[in-house]
Amino acid sequence: LKAIRACHQSAADPQSKLDALRDQYIADAPHQHFVTTFNNIVFGEGDPAADLMFIGEAPGQEEDQTGRPFVGRAGQLLEKMIIAMGLTRESVYIANVLKTRPPNNATPTKDEAALCAPYLFEQIKIINPKIIVTLGLPASQLLLESTQPMRSLRGSFQDLPESTTQAHELPPIPVMPTYHPAFLLRAYTEDNRRKVWSDLTQVIDRLGLKDS
Ligand code: URA
Repeated sequence: LKAIRACHQSAADPQSKLDALRDQYIADAPHQHFVTTFNNIVFGEGDPAADLMFIGEAPGQEEDQTGRPFVGRAGQLLEKMIIAMGLTRESVYIANVLKTRPPNNATPTKDEAALCAPYLFEQIKIINPKIIVTLGLPASQLLLESTQPMRSLRGSFQDLPESTTQAHELPPIPVMPTYHPAFLLRAYTEDNRRKVWSDLTQVIDRLGLKDS
């Protein structure tokens, strides 16, 4: 953990810090400890000083091919959501719990998430967003140290638990857990869309984006 933390400390601007962290991730290769057959590491992208950070689960096929997060079907829906919020993809930061594609898009196990979590928390620390939106269960449960289902986690802001802020030297960033866009695509009901929009509207309000 110390080495991960130290890797970017000499860098001045957040993008250089993120680059140094990416190099450290590649050197450590935490994914070597679990089964994966990836082509590209998908570290994350966007504004390194973004007010809003989205955290998904793991790269899918298109992400693995391009090295960019959320560029497949779920990514297109996420981008629509970002635009509906009055933002652009470039103005937010998008990352995942896992940086490599799991075989058959398997849901990351708790152990896999735990191996990659220090890099994600360090990304959060560098970007220092005002709000984090976690997309789906793995990211929501990891950040909130919870075993609750999405239906109990989503719907209102939650604080990062104190154990997390202390362990990773993070400020108490509010987290809005919401359904993953891939889940929405599978269950594209009025009710689910309304729920996600209700979650995102609270984010818009808290960011002060209402009248812009
Ligand atoms: N699903 C995710 O969770 N992340 C991506 O980058 C793409 C799809």
